[in-house]
Amino acid sequence: METITISQSPQHVGETVRIGVWLTDKRSSGKIAFLQLRDGTGFFQGIIRKNNVDEETFELAKHDLHQETSFYVTGEIAEDKRSKFGYEIHITDIDVVGTSDDYPIGNKEHGIDFLLDHRHLWLRSRKPWALMRIRSRVKLATMEFFNKHGFTQFDAPILTGSAPEGTTELFETDYFDQSAYLSQSGQLYGEAGAMALGRIYTMGPTFRAEKSKTRRHLMEFWMIEPEMAWMHEDENEEIQEQYVAYLIQDLIDHCPLELEMVGRSVESLKPFTELPYPRVTYKEAIKMLQDGGLDVKYGDDFGSPEETYLADQFKKPVFIKNYPKEIKAFYMPTNPEDDREVICADLLAPEGYGEIIGGSERAYDYEYITSKLEENGLSKENYGWYDDLRKYGSVPHSGFGMGLERFLAWVTLQDHIRENIPFPRMLNRLNP
Ligand code: 4AD
Ligand code: MG
Repeated sequence: METITISQSPQHVGETVRIGVWLTDKRSSGKIAFLQLRDGTGFFQGIIRKNNVDEETFELAKHDLHQETSFYVTGEIAEDKRSKFGYEIHITDIDVVGTSDDYPIGNKEHGIDFLLDHRHLWLRSRKPWALMRIRSRVKLATMEFFNKHGFTQFDAPILTGSAPEGTTELFETDYFDQSAYLSQSGQLYGEAGAMALGRIYTMGPTFRAEKSKTRRHLMEFWMIEPEMAWMHEDENEEIQEQYVAYLIQDLIDHCPLELEMVGRSVESLKPFTELPYPRVTYKEAIKMLQDGGLDVKYGDDFGSPEETYLADQFKKPVFIKNYPKEIKAFYMPTNPEDDREVICADLLAPEGYGEIIGGSERAYDYEYITSKLEENGLSKENYGWYDDLRKYGSVPHSGFGMGLERFLAWVTLQDHIRENIPFPRMLNRLNP
């Protein structure tokens, strides 16, 4: 007899097979019991009839199987037109592997703190299952997309001696007789990679010691950071929109069941696969916000209400271009059309999800970068290597960073990004 997975059932209709499963729920009446089963690859129902099995097995199913008991189930696979999955198993034998009594998560409403305290178990539930499958798929599609576009994957270090996006948000740790910081961004290393390999992307965890408790902030989040040599901002934005549209189309094609399980309709995603996305300058955005009655002036950074308002005007992701220097990072070049500004763009997601990508052209003039490093108190000792990239064969280059959980929260319509990562790290949560 073959051992299969739930996901392989369509290929085994009419056959007797064995599957390793966990029980998620059950109900029984006199002569029949319905067992809701999961095995990691999917969910389906097992049916056990008193007159198909021996007395002992039927009693075991009725009394000894509890939520999350693990067992091998043997039976015949059949089509089940009533369930979404479309298949079920008619059980002939059960072989318990691990008992489970008083499983803490029931099939009822629990508060979010309780669920996060039990995240190691909560991951077994349906919605986390769907969210983790979508996350995994997006990482795979990321690799496919950048591979197709001639990028090399490149790994930036996590322990660093420096802080590219500002020094207040760093986690500091002992590194023998000196201090090290957990990386906030792989970008600067990515720039070195682009000078060696042309087009690279990093995909890894990044850390921000921001004391923010918003729905969009994690202390540890994953970022995808492409960096391209010989590229200006216009082309940078084209790659960004192609990438986002590719990810969405890939989910529509490969994860329709998971999307439905998290309450995101495929129809509602389709418009986001249509390019181009609109582009608005920061100046135009300020005007739109003022016209809309929001209290902003030139020079202000945008918070969540401003980002939501702007994206709402387009019902699509929208690029906001060329922000004032003061609110952006030191490596962005001056806008030749207005020297108060830098050449950059943030991509704002619609439906209230705000910034999902931050990107820019990178200043590549040696004198300019040297003066910027000095201005920002970034020492030669720590950043001399970054300066070297401008000293030896500097070329125009651009890149961006997409927050994986920000993107996922949007496409899965989550109120908070904490459910889009297996074990979220938040202001007051480091466990489990
Ligand atoms: O805008 P940020 O800070 O840009 C950078 O770090 C650049 N070095 C990226 C680059 O050009 N290579 O962050 C980029 C993205 C944001 O748009 C957001 O999606 C995400 O990272 N992000 C966060 N996600 C979750 N929690 C946080 N605390 C985040 N901070 C930024
Ligand atoms: Mg940003």
